[in-house]
Amino acid sequence: MSGNRAAFLLEPKGRFEVRDAPIEQPGPGEVLVKVQAGALQPADEKVAKMAMLPVEYPAVLGSPVGGIVQALGEGVTKVAVGDHIVCGTKIFTHKKPKYGGMQRYTLVDESEVIEVSNLLVGSYLHRTNSRGIQVGDTDFTKVVTLGSYTPPGCLFGSNTLNMQYPSIPANPLAADEEGKKILIWGGSSAMGSLCISYAKQAGYTVISTSSPHNFDLLKSLGADHIFDHSDPTTVDKIRNLFPIHYWLDTISLNQSVTTICKILAPEGKPATKAYIHMLLPMVMAGNPTLPEGVTAGMHRFSTHAPENADWAKYFLSRGGFMEQGIKSGVIKGVPPYSLGGLEKVSEGIEELHKGVSGKKVVIDPWA
Ligand SMILES: NC(=O)c1ccc[n+]([C@@H]2O[C@H](COP(=O)([O-])OP(=O)(O)OC[C@H]3O[C@@H](n4cnc5c(N)ncnc54)[C@H](OP(=O)(O)O)[C@@H]3O)[C@@H](O)[C@H]2O)c1
Repeated sequence: MSGNRAAFLLEPKGRFEVRDAPIEQPGPGEVLVKVQAGALQPADEKVAKMAMLPVEYPAVLGSPVGGIVQALGEGVTKVAVGDHIVCGTKIFTHKKPKYGGMQRYTLVDESEVIEVSNLLVGSYLHRTNSRGIQVGDTDFTKVVTLGSYTPPGCLFGSNTLNMQYPSIPANPLAADEEGKKILIWGGSSAMGSLCISYAKQAGYTVISTSSPHNFDLLKSLGADHIFDHSDPTTVDKIRNLFPIHYWLDTISLNQSVTTICKILAPEGKPATKAYIHMLLPMVMAGNPTLPEGVTAGMHRFSTHAPENADWAKYFLSRGGFMEQGIKSGVIKGVPPYSLGGLEKVSEGIEELHKGVSGKKVVIDPWA
């Protein structure tokens, strides 16, 4: 096994340095992955620039990763050595550098691994995993844009929006959900784009927003009604689509929260009662006062929580919805923005700091 290299954030708000790192052995329930593509997410930027979440330094950030299973910890049966997988990393829960994505080898949790071998149906099968099954070429750069369980967590968790589960093919909605609509604010974000495709696959009508240059992307994801988030007429246009049954703000900053509140509470009129599911804490939006009858809550979701056991079985198990959705192509997101190798991690953080539009920053640790 050739050696590991990682992009280390040397200290809080410090600089990155690429250097050799140990290849760690997987503990019970862990999987060692040879990373082929790793994504940077806004949380990485918030940690790198503002030290907003605690991690051990020198730190290795990044999630999710796509790659090839290299070794299995005790008790792992979900995947085999040689399988192609995508998985969120454990860096913000376990904090140690061996769990970050910006390196050639990382450790992930078996329970969250999604097997994606044979993603390209009919592709040339040329690798064999340890169970003797042939696996094909995988476009890891694309796969890594799809490997987040936050979108299905937001939409389908029993303590989140609790919408009807998606299926392949999409089943009609049950009688009590029939015709229901969801507003997904921020449809060109990495999370928003995935939420659109999950909600469509569950059979809902999707209303979403982005800048006009991303309208085609939102259309390709299946959004039914698309509006410019900066156009003042969007408020009335969305209100004309009432009733809207589910509200998801994937941006969760002051402009998005206050605009959603304007839709719910036209000046001088009582507000429509609603719960807004947010991806950031209200303090990041400047703690705006919500109209009476409107509540909001931040997405906090553990795939291990007992109340999410059914959810985890449906979405994360071998052959479960995420595996099927990614392999079949029904789960779609923003395109990858491949920056290059580990030396580009710092540049990737700067891109996120400036704000990306309709794309996901992806690093190839072997480039
Ligand atoms: N709580 C959790 O578990 C959790 C998990 C994942 C992510 N998050 C958080 O969720 C947020 C989104 O993450 P992400 O990776 O999806 O972000 P992202 O892809 O970096 O978001 C970029 C997009 O945001 C859009 N945008 C910016 N301002 C907007 C506005 N006012 N209204 C509508 N769209 C706007 C831009 O749209 P246009 O370019 O089209 O204008 C752009 O496409 C981040 O803050 C992240 O930290 C939280």
